[in-house]
Amino acid sequence: TVKIATIGGGSSYTPELVEGFIKRYDELPVRELWLVDVPEGEEKLKIVGGLAQRMVKAAGLPMEVHLTLDRREALAGADFVTTQFRVGQLDARIKDERIALKHGLIGQETNGAAGMFKALRTIPVIFDIIRDMQELCPDAWLVNFTNPVGIVTEAVLRYTDWDKIIGLCNCPISMRFGIAKWMDVDPDRVRMELSGLNHHFFVTDVFIDGKSCFDEVLERYCELPVEELGTMKNIMAIPWSNRLIRGLHAIPVSYLNYYFSTREELKQLTADYEAHGVRAEVVKQVEAELFDLYKDAELHVKPKQLEERGGAHYSDAACSVIDSIYNDRGDIQYVDVRNRGAVSSLPEESAIECAAVITADGPKPIAIGELPVAINGTIQMIKTFERMVAEAAVTGNKDLVVAALVANKLCDSDAVANEVVDELMEAHKDYLPQF
Ligand code: G6P
Ligand code: MN
Repeated sequence: TVKIATIGGGSSYTPELVEGFIKRYDELPVRELWLVDVPEGEEKLKIVGGLAQRMVKAAGLPMEVHLTLDRREALAGADFVTTQFRVGQLDARIKDERIALKHGLIGQETNGAAGMFKALRTIPVIFDIIRDMQELCPDAWLVNFTNPVGIVTEAVLRYTDWDKIIGLCNCPISMRFGIAKWMDVDPDRVRMELSGLNHHFFVTDVFIDGKSCFDEVLERYCELPVEELGTMKNIMAIPWSNRLIRGLHAIPVSYLNYYFSTREELKQLTADYEAHGVRAEVVKQVEAELFDLYKDAELHVKPKQLEERGGAHYSDAACSVIDSIYNDRGDIQYVDVRNRGAVSSLPEESAIECAAVITADGPKPIAIGELPVAINGTIQMIKTFERMVAEAAVTGNKDLVVAALVANKLCDSDAVANEVVDELMEAHKDYLPQF
């Protein structure tokens, strides 16, 4: 049987995960699920943990759901550790998004200045968790959802000797569902080739029943009205021009809107901010409503309202990857792992987001060779940024923070980079022990 420890267990997303484990219980018998949180999150942990316990009970399964503030107790003997915490809670994300926007930069959880500071806060904590894992559950896999997944994975792979980390995101599977819908086929028949990085990838081939049909998919994509394309809930998707899509010969993940429609996104984010605050403020409101629902002792399923968050389908990604490792399935899923030569244009030791065969020995990336020239530049830019931020997070080098931000296309000014870095450093000083 399986023991899972979930760090950041008080997250509003926890019912997703619990639902995923319940659905798969026959093949993935999770006997113990330990939800861990920090003292600031205790109240949320109790509420969402209570719902988790009711969900399991209603399903009639012998799964124990433990709630604890003691991370070490939860990690001891765990088979899988999932991470979904947010250092400094949503208030820290509000500061990231607002301060970036105030300086005329895109203020977005995982991109640019805001994403960079989220990484600087998160990496030291992930390293702490890994140190505990080395001692308490050295054979476990770390399945990380904590953003920015790309930079966190890069930092772990480069600066620790822990190899058993898998970064996850719901964007790839959401795209797979989207493609299945446009092509009017069952999602199980659709497989994709992904090229790039977390929140910065392109679909560069699509296989239906194992046969490549990318040209048809691209043409279908160009014909469809934007409402039918389906994008992430948290991103204001600006339709790509058909010229761009045909010119790239690739389908960008919605996050690429921040890079390819930067002016329009900035205008929209500013208008949204004036109307109802930054995304983190909207999320805070949605979360408060979710927790009110979770309190209801009669509720014993995941409420539909959770789909208003950007992370829909996230449990499908997490539970499927755990299931495939546990059962040595050898199926293909989309993960953030070490490149190991699969993409020859990127460093072998770096993290990439890719299609990989999932075995009991972990994910094996499917080789794609060189990146197509049309998408190579933007991917190299982000990999540079990720590497610089990871290094700065580990070393506490402030100059590198500024240089990293300037390397990112979302910041077009050295002077602004200096100002925004100073302000964010000050705002988050309690969570940046390395600086
Ligand atoms: C997408 C991303 C996740 C991110 C989420 C944010 O699903 O893939 O990495 O956490 O959006 O959604 P939110 O509702 O918090 O803005
Ligand atoms: Mn993601």
